[in-house]
Amino acid sequence: MQVIVTDRSGDVAEYSVSEFSDLFTQLSDEMKIDALCGGCCSCATCHIYTDESDAMYLSDCDESERDVLDGLLHVRDGSRLLCQLSLKEKMKTLKITIAQSE
Ligand code: FES
Repeated sequence: MQVIVTDRSGDVAEYSVSEFSDLFTQLSDEMKIDALCGGCCSCATCHIYTDESDAMYLSDCDESERDVLDGLLHVRDGSRLLCQLSLKEKMKTLKITIAQSE
């Protein structure tokens, strides 16, 4: 599976990942996000925007993720925490934009 990542400066990079392993582990280093809490759903430094067209393939946002997102200034439709994101269906290409820093 390919993941197309747009970083904060607008540069685009493409990564190959296994859809059977978690996206955070595979992408957090590549994407150069801070991930300060190590994926514990508390720091929001892994805040990303996903495309509406990809929503059906993505895990649902649970209450703890929603609580963290609700505290952010730059939250918008498609906002997710990469550390909480997984696929619920196979997909060929996932598009991710790294959110602005808070
Ligand atoms: S790495 Fe901290 S909330 Fe995702």
